[in-house]
Amino acid sequence: MPFDNDIVDQVRSSNDIVDVVSSYVPLKKIGARYRGLCPFHNEKTPSFYVNGSMKIFKCFGCGESGDVFSFIEKIENVGFYEALEILAKRAGITLPERKYDSEGAARRSLKESIAVINKEAATYYYMMLRGPKGTKAYEYLKNRGLSDDTMRNFGLGFAGNYSNGLYNYLKEKGHSDDELSKSGLFSMGEKGIYDKFWDRVIFPIMDVKGRVIAFGGRIMSKAENAPKYLNSPETELFLKSENLYGLHIAKKTKEKFFLLCEGYMDVIALHQAGFNNAVASLGTSLTERQAKKIKGYTDNVVITYDSDSPGKNAAKRAIPILKNEGLNVRILDMTPYKDPDELIVAKGADEYRKRIEQAVNGFDFEAKLLEESHDLEDPDSKTQFDHRIAETIARIDDPLARNNHINAAAKKYNIDAVELKRLVNSIGSALKIQEENEKIKTELKKTREIKPDAARKNTECLLLNTIIQYKNAYLAIKDVLKPDDFPDETEQKIYDFICKDYERTGSAVGAGIIDKFEEAEERKKVADILMVSGDFEDTNEDERRKAFADYVTAVKKAAIDRKAGEAMSAGDGERLKVLITEEDSLGSLRKKLLSIDLS
Ligand code: UTP
Ligand code: MN
Repeated sequence: MPFDNDIVDQVRSSNDIVDVVSSYVPLKKIGARYRGLCPFHNEKTPSFYVNGSMKIFKCFGCGESGDVFSFIEKIENVGFYEALEILAKRAGITLPERKYDSEGAARRSLKESIAVINKEAATYYYMMLRGPKGTKAYEYLKNRGLSDDTMRNFGLGFAGNYSNGLYNYLKEKGHSDDELSKSGLFSMGEKGIYDKFWDRVIFPIMDVKGRVIAFGGRIMSKAENAPKYLNSPETELFLKSENLYGLHIAKKTKEKFFLLCEGYMDVIALHQAGFNNAVASLGTSLTERQAKKIKGYTDNVVITYDSDSPGKNAAKRAIPILKNEGLNVRILDMTPYKDPDELIVAKGADEYRKRIEQAVNGFDFEAKLLEESHDLEDPDSKTQFDHRIAETIARIDDPLARNNHINAAAKKYNIDAVELKRLVNSIGSALKIQEENEKIKTELKKTREIKPDAARKNTECLLLNTIIQYKNAYLAIKDVLKPDDFPDETEQKIYDFICKDYERTGSAVGAGIIDKFEEAEERKKVADILMVSGDFEDTNEDERRKAFADYVTAVKKAAIDRKAGEAMSAGDGERLKVLITEEDSLGSLRKKLLSIDLS
């Protein structure tokens, strides 16, 4: 870690994790822990826990866990240093000046160094577009109707026709090949590293804070046998499924809705035409995470995907995802133009504004699609159409709205109203059963996932938690319990870390212990184990003492049995004798533990 451990510990202990998390997620006290809906995945029943005394959080649904720093890193999408800054500021602590010396650079987290690389790369591309080699690209963008202001606002750039222009530029700035190769901006070839983007117009992709996290590059000619857009791969910094292009501007809009479009050019054209509320999901279909993100800023979305059939299908898929997050959805029709960019270039902003007013709700949109794909004069096709309409109506949640749509559709499409109602109801019950089944399935999956955690809520975990919380508990057993008395390797390591912490600093911090594990799976396990604590806080000292004495003797007894078994099969009589003596002393150990101070 590039920082003094003392300052990290100081910032951590000055920020109560329960307070910090509470400012993002409403928490409820459950026993000695706090529980809420996980901010890192979509859930309807809470499985996200915060343990104040251990200073950690853990979600039993998605498995995300860590201390107050990892929480801020994750929720603000920042690196460790920024999380440290945020939390230091929150606690009124002044951080020592950060040094950007080469050693410091080497120790910066990968996420942070990618952020620095991206920023410098964006500057490089930006300069290329404005330089003598950028004329062709500049003309291309001008031809597409973009003003200088727009190009500047979106930081547009140009990657020239060199295999290593950016590489050399960044090398000169002092970045290592290792960092560069993880930035997603380079490809590895036989002759080494070379630039990924060549002869393309560059669209920097910004996160919600306006920080460059990735790039998209568009070819300028039509004929080439290459993908139209090339995008950065996912990196430490860039998660496609979470990001929305244009959000850093749209989040400030005064409009009561967001315009959701498909691509870079749509967002840019809309912003230039005065619609500063446009965002795009960039090539991938809309995800739950993106919908959640949108819901953080607005309650209403107008989908303005391409009017071709892939665009319509994408809209059909996006509607339920958005609705699931509680967003009101309308769909805008661009025909005969393909996308917002084309419509605005051809007809201007006023026409687009009109289309926003005319945008229809999800039901009308789907009904129209059905009309287009069926021949209502043909009896068989009409029957199929009626069934599909009934199904669409059955998916409407509000019973009043459902009834109104039944009546309206019966009239409009000349369907017998009573028959239609019957059909809607029977499809509705089928859908409900299906939904129930899905629910049961996910519940089942959840209990299966939680089981191992619950099973681990055993003596060893409680013992470890007690000695972290009570120094006297540690002092009482440190000479008696050895790491190998714990049956599980992770528990052995935790115990060892606790001992070392106490010996070195005189205290042990649960959150600090997670930090010592690097591998993600093991970190999760550590969080599980430490999450068990808290059960003590509502007990009195006598109960605590008795429980602790029980834990220690149980763990020690089990360890002796295990070792005795091994000694026996190895025919090691001497060892067996030692173990038996140890077992004999368990009674007096227990007595001693019942008199320690655990206040
Ligand atoms: P479009 O082909 O509609 O792109 O793809 P566009 O934004 O309208 O671009 P122009 O107007 O032709 O320049 C929609 C989005 O899908 C992604 C891009 O994010 C694009 O903006 N895409 C498309 C790719 O990532 N790769 C491709 O080859 C094509
Ligand atoms: Mn398009």
